[in-house]
Amino acid sequence: MKLLVTGGCGFIGSTFVRMALARGHEVVNVDKLTYAGNPANVAEVADDPKYHFVHADIADAPAMADALTGVDAVVNMAAESHVDRSILDPAAFPMTDVVGTAVILDQSRRAGVGRFVQVSTDEVYGSIPVGLFRETDPLNPSSPYSASKAGGDLQALAWHHTYGMDVVVTRGSNTYGPRQYPEKLIPLFVTNALDGEQLPVYGDGQQIRDWIHVEDHCSGVFAALEHGIAGEVYNVGGGNERTNLEITERILEYTNRDASLIRYVEDRLGHDRRYALATEKLSLLGWSAAVDFGTGLTDTVTWYRDNRAWWEPIKSGEYRAYYDEQYGQR
Ligand code: NAD
Ligand code: DAU
Repeated sequence: MKLLVTGGCGFIGSTFVRMALARGHEVVNVDKLTYAGNPANVAEVADDPKYHFVHADIADAPAMADALTGVDAVVNMAAESHVDRSILDPAAFPMTDVVGTAVILDQSRRAGVGRFVQVSTDEVYGSIPVGLFRETDPLNPSSPYSASKAGGDLQALAWHHTYGMDVVVTRGSNTYGPRQYPEKLIPLFVTNALDGEQLPVYGDGQQIRDWIHVEDHCSGVFAALEHGIAGEVYNVGGGNERTNLEITERILEYTNRDASLIRYVEDRLGHDRRYALATEKLSLLGWSAAVDFGTGLTDTVTWYRDNRAWWEPIKSGEYRAYYDEQYGQR
């Protein structure tokens, strides 16, 4: 297939691009190169004749019309993706996550694209104290980020309902692995711990997330792309619930640091307590998560230890201003 992947210079997108090329697909990577988009993430495939890069915003209709020529399927990963940034600067999020999604959906419809996969998040369901969210549960997003992503899901499903477009939606859980921008919990805490800096745990650290390795998340998106039913939603969860404090303690152990680096700080506004997903529907398509969490996390720590040249320039740039704004008063 000729796949158009958006956000392919980001964390999950760049993994998906590499996996798609390895599976023999041709890939058009459309990326705006925001602070989170890093060409180094796809450097090893940049010269592959089946790989094409388009530097564009998914909200730019003429650019999307051009990029979509001859494309069989679209995987829309581009997003503003960080909850804390959505609390600091909420208006930026609907521009890409809702409006951008609507623009690329509509250009895909006009171009006659065969299938459109909207990559979404478990956060659209909101927080769940016990049990698991199913695909039929109502949307109840809490943060400006998750509200924007829910808007994107609804746009995608509306294009199926209204125009009969072949759309599937995936809702992934918290994803970890190499090349994740060091603003998210795991890469932030790993890189801070490697540098002997404090780890800012929000509130009591007892919030629960369901962690999935980035390759398992991507294989779930492939399952939905290749075998999903048009108009359906598929949860992509790791079945791997951990408190933030457990994640923090494991990172301290794997980086040979001690608990003196933990700093309990003011909680995130509107902080969701727990996410958890039922994944039977995706399993019926033949998918299962393959990466053991202990192995995946130690490999991730090793990757950050061995790739300082990837994250040190990030942490000294625009990131510094963000870090001071986010953590300076906490
Ligand atoms: P990321 O922030 O690492 O990367 C986002 C990418 O999108 C960047 O390369 C950025 O340059 C690009 N981008 C942003 N706005 C754009 C625009 N308007 N036009 C074109 N490109 C644009 O994000 P990620 O963590 O890899 O997440 C990828 C997708 O998966 C997102 O849709 C996110 O909501 C979803 N998701 C992420 C997680 C997670 O834990 N990271 C979990 C579930 C779902
Ligand atoms: O659940 C899927 C979502 O997971 C994705 O849709 C988002 O794109 C992704 O960013 C992630 O959102 P979270 O808010 O859950 O991830 P984050 O890594 O920012 O935080 C994970 C948990 O760790 C959360 O409970 C907040 C906490 N945390 C985070 C940071 C950055 C801290 O305690 N301290 C921190 O400094």
